[in-house]
Amino acid sequence: MRIVCIGGGPAGLYFALLMKKLDPAHEITVVERNRPYDTFGWGVVFSDATMEGMRAWDRETADAIEVAFNHWDDIELHFKGHVIRSGGHGFVGIGRKKLLNILQARCEALGVELLFETEVDSDEDFPDADLIIASDGVNSKVRNKYAEVFQPDIVTRPNRFIWLGTTQLYDAFNFHFEKTEHGWFQSHVYKFDDQTTTYIVETPEDVWKAHGLDEADTGQSIAFCEKLFAKYLGGHPLLSNARHLRGSAWLNFQRVRCRNWHHFNGKSHVVLMGDAVHTAHFAIGSGTKLALEDAIGLTRLFKEAKAAGGGGAGDIPAVLQRYQAEREVDVLRLQNAAWNAMEWFEVVGTRYCDQLEPEQFMYSMLTRSQRISHENLRLRDANWLEGYERWFARRAAAQAGVPAPLTAAEPANVAPAIKPPSPMFTPYRLRGMTVPNRVVVSPMAVYSADQGMPNDFHLVHFGSRALGGAGLLYTEMTCTRPDARITPGCAGLWNDAQRDAWKRIVDFVHTNSAAKMGLQLGHAGAKGSTQLGWQKMDEPLESGNWPLVSASAVPYLPVSQVPREMSRADMDRVTADFVAAARRGAQAGFDILELHCAHGYLLSSFLSPLTNRRADAYGGPVENRARYPLEVFAALRAVWPEDRPISVRLSCHDWFPGGNTADDAVAIARMFKAAGADIIDCSSGQVVADQKPVYGRMYQTPFADRIRNEVGIPTVAVGAIFEADHVNMVIAAGRADLCAVARPHLADPAWTLHEAAKIGHAEIGWPLPYLSGRSQYEANLRRAAAMAAGAQA
Ligand SMILES: Cc1cc2nc3c(=O)[nH]c(=O)nc-3n(C[C@H](O)[C@H](O)[C@H](O)COP(=O)(O)OP(=O)(O)OC[C@H]3O[C@@H](n4cnc5c(N)ncnc54)[C@H](O)[C@@H]3O)c2cc1C
Ligand SMILES: Cc1cc2nc3c(=O)[nH]c(=O)nc-3n(C[C@H](O)[C@H](O)[C@H](O)COP(=O)(O)O)c2cc1C
Repeated sequence: MRIVCIGGGPAGLYFALLMKKLDPAHEITVVERNRPYDTFGWGVVFSDATMEGMRAWDRETADAIEVAFNHWDDIELHFKGHVIRSGGHGFVGIGRKKLLNILQARCEALGVELLFETEVDSDEDFPDADLIIASDGVNSKVRNKYAEVFQPDIVTRPNRFIWLGTTQLYDAFNFHFEKTEHGWFQSHVYKFDDQTTTYIVETPEDVWKAHGLDEADTGQSIAFCEKLFAKYLGGHPLLSNARHLRGSAWLNFQRVRCRNWHHFNGKSHVVLMGDAVHTAHFAIGSGTKLALEDAIGLTRLFKEAKAAGGGGAGDIPAVLQRYQAEREVDVLRLQNAAWNAMEWFEVVGTRYCDQLEPEQFMYSMLTRSQRISHENLRLRDANWLEGYERWFARRAAAQAGVPAPLTAAEPANVAPAIKPPSPMFTPYRLRGMTVPNRVVVSPMAVYSADQGMPNDFHLVHFGSRALGGAGLLYTEMTCTRPDARITPGCAGLWNDAQRDAWKRIVDFVHTNSAAKMGLQLGHAGAKGSTQLGWQKMDEPLESGNWPLVSASAVPYLPVSQVPREMSRADMDRVTADFVAAARRGAQAGFDILELHCAHGYLLSSFLSPLTNRRADAYGGPVENRARYPLEVFAALRAVWPEDRPISVRLSCHDWFPGGNTADDAVAIARMFKAAGADIIDCSSGQVVADQKPVYGRMYQTPFADRIRNEVGIPTVAVGAIFEADHVNMVIAAGRADLCAVARPHLADPAWTLHEAAKIGHAEIGWPLPYLSGRSQYEANLRRAAAMAAGAQA
């Protein structure tokens, strides 16, 4: 095969050498515009795992890199005068120039032709090539030429960064944060040889502009950074090796992904590789890893084709198809993690720096990509994590006004004997209510009431979940009137008999567990008068429908009833119903009230512009749309006992064009906070039927995070939180204060007790009659863990 690599970065060089090694008969040329020793940028990092992969494919290259690289385990944060360090992170740092020189030397030794100082204008300059690798970097000419085929999706991100170096040396991966009168700057700092350290400085565009850095040349920019970060530089200069670049040395990161990765130009097969086809932000330092793994991935497929008796030019189309199909998945996973990490650094100045204490800030930073979980941090550095858990437990105890689980008086250098509780198992207080842990049974309709009356099913349902260890249990959306119900099976609270039936349940929960009990109150609006959840959900009843009201006359489904737009008199009546239900709820002994303003039900229909088309003072801008829900809230706050909190559940995103987004949710949460809400329960969607939500693990937690840290109000995270590890991550990082868990509680009423056992949290009380079940359960878990460890060994 005749192969040409356009661009001699890590992707082009590594692929060339691997393919030459695979079959010395291949004729391979790498064409590079720069000279062999020219390169911009400083060091790159990749993980130990990438090194292992490289070793398997070419030991010589891996050996040469290993001699030249710097390995370190620790991450050190410098923030608000604190220095916090944790270990076990396993990085390899190497100068980009050194890495390229190793790859170039190996290419030459294997017989790859290297053409330097040659600018390639077009892939068509190589008509005799069977395969052309477009490894020409983020600004790939080849990708741009065939943009219609490759369909690149390029997003330019808002932060500005400058890639500098310094002769100051550090013995860990450092992050330095400094505040100016205009905002926060951060630097990512890692050593890559005996004399030099990479020093990337980053800040949001508005802060950058406010300092006039858009007008500054490279020298002035360096002088600014040297002054700002002087205390970390110990008198050493910051250096640039990109002075040859015209204009500002400050860049914006560009996230590249492509729909198609390969193309036949009439003579040769052209395939994109490395930064030309995908980029990953330096916040998780994996662009080089992806480039090297692309090279490995494509070589492996040619190797497999060869083993099957082929491996020549005829196999190229099939190999390229598999290359894209296989690599795309890994790349997407890494790009998602890199995206989270990048966003963290984009918002850190407004969302976390001024809000979080250094200890929690460190935790938040370490888990920024959402790939490193709580238990993963324990594997990396158990001591550091335990110290953090201890810190967190003391904070939580102080917040909750309960004695700290461990004596605060221990000498700092003596580890206390007792293991601190995981963040999930710390208490939390809202007004006069203290929950024993952070797990909430999310409100869930069980469609088992008759005439709104809770019955023995509800008693057993809530009773078993209270015995199952959750800290707070919510009722389903409990309706304020018969015509406020979603279905004929929904529970209500519009008469005294219902109040007394609820009281029996609340009393059981209080008497037999440490759990608190919450009442979710709602009105179905346009989504009322429908069939039970396991029938034709959201569709009208076959018979016996009742008339509906909503913010506007907008039906939920084409088959739905068209609701009547609420009049002022309707509003007053509904508010009065809410007030009466809340009064009864207080009498029944509920500890917290949640006002359901989510999922397209009545109050939600006011909040969303998709369902609110009103022309009066209750429609239009978000302040108007929130007006009626806020009126209801104020009326409830006036009658709900002062020492009991009120929560508000919001749909924080409508997942539909023209609908509410997280920005609106922040504005709405701010208004509820001003009105006296204690906590915002951050759900999303279900406002319009043709929504397009983006599901995934903990997918709504970013809303809870944003509202908590930008608005400054406690939040509940909910949605695909299904392991203790998730709860710990969310709570420990300060992304939310409580975690609501819905479907897992339908599958397992004792979800909390079981999760506690799985992570070895012993200090949770099981109901005394169940103790022998506990010991067997825990013994079985230990046995399974021992067997899994044995199988691994
Ligand atoms: C600030 C910053 C920090 C980074 N830190 C890390 C890190 O810590 N870890 C990490 O893994 N990655 C990091 N990266 C990303 C990393 O540098 C790239 O992902 C990686 O170099 C991609 O390799 P590549 O071979 O695809 O492209 P490149 O390394 O960009 O190589 C492309 C090559 O093609 C040449 N070329 C382009 N066009 C032509 C043409 N028309 N004719 C001839 N030659 C051409 C270029 O001169 C260049 O040598 C960082 C990037 C930035 C911006
Ligand atoms: C059967 C069922 C009924 C639900 N009923 C309600 C409800 O009455 N009120 C409410 O706010 N959310 C309701 N939800 C939504 C859940 O509270 C929760 O937000 C959602 O299921 C996501 O959490 P999960 O991924 O843990 O299941 C319901 C969910 C399910 C599965």
